[in-house]
Amino acid sequence: VILTQDELKKIAAYKAVESVESGMVLGLGTGSTAKHAVTRIGDLLRLGKLTNITGIPTSRMTHELALSVGIPLSDLDSHPVVDLAIDGADEVDPHMNLVKGRGGSLLREKMIEGACKKFIVIVDESKLVEHIGGSGLAMPVEVVPFCWKFTAERLRLLFEEAGCLARLRRDGEGGEPFVTDNKNYIVDLYFERDIGDLMVASDRILRLPGVVEHGMFLGMATTLIVAGELGVQVKNK
Ligand code: A5P
Repeated sequence: VILTQDELKKIAAYKAVESVESGMVLGLGTGSTAKHAVTRIGDLLRLGKLTNITGIPTSRMTHELALSVGIPLSDLDSHPVVDLAIDGADEVDPHMNLVKGRGGSLLREKMIEGACKKFIVIVDESKLVEHIGGSGLAMPVEVVPFCWKFTAERLRLLFEEAGCLARLRRDGEGGEPFVTDNKNYIVDLYFERDIGDLMVASDRILRLPGVVEHGMFLGMATTLIVAGELGVQVKNK
C-alpha cells in the first residue's frame, strides 16, 4: 500500500500522542501534522483514556481546533512550565534543527516549545533535509509591520553572500500582507547558497531591530518522529 502524505502525518502524530500522560500540560502545535495530534488528544479525552490535560495552543487556529475537540486550554502566564509539546516542522536536519513557520505561526510556537521539558517533532519523511535553509523553500522571519521594507532589505543584506532573496508574505499573489496572530508581518528568506553556521545566522537575524523572531528552531527538539513508507522512526536527542 502506498500511503498518502496526510496518512504519514497522522501516523507520526498518533505515535507522538502515545507519550501523553494524564495530568500533563501540553504544548499544542500548529499545522496539518499537529492537527492530527490535537484531534487524537481530544478523542482520548472523550474516551476517558486521558484525563486532566491542559493544552497550551501555539496559534489562534490551534486554539479554535483544541476547543472544538474538547481540550481544556490555558497559557504560558498560568503554566510557565510545559511538560510536553508536539508539533510539525517544515524542515528537519540531521541534528534535529528545524525550520518552522511556513504555515504562518512561529513566535508562539517558539515561546511555548522553548518552555517545554520535552518537545516531540512529528513529520513525514519529505521534511528531512541535509541543510537547513538549503531546500530552496522559505525561511520565515516575523517582523513588525513598521517599515517592513527597510527590515526586509536589512535581512537580505545580512545574507547577500548566500544569494538571499527577501519577500514579504502576502495573502495570495499580489494580495494584502499576511498578518500573524501577533499582528506582525512575515518576510520569507530564500537562499541560493548555504547560510553557514546556523547559530551565527540566528544571532544576526535577531539582532536586527524590526525583527521579532525567525523560524529556525535550533537545538530545541528532544525527539523526532518520522513516518515514511517503510515505517515510523523515533530518534531521541
Ligand atoms: C506553522 O506555521 C509551522 O511552524 C508548522 O509547524 C509547519 O509549517 C509544519 O506544518 P505542516 O505540518 O502543515 O507541514
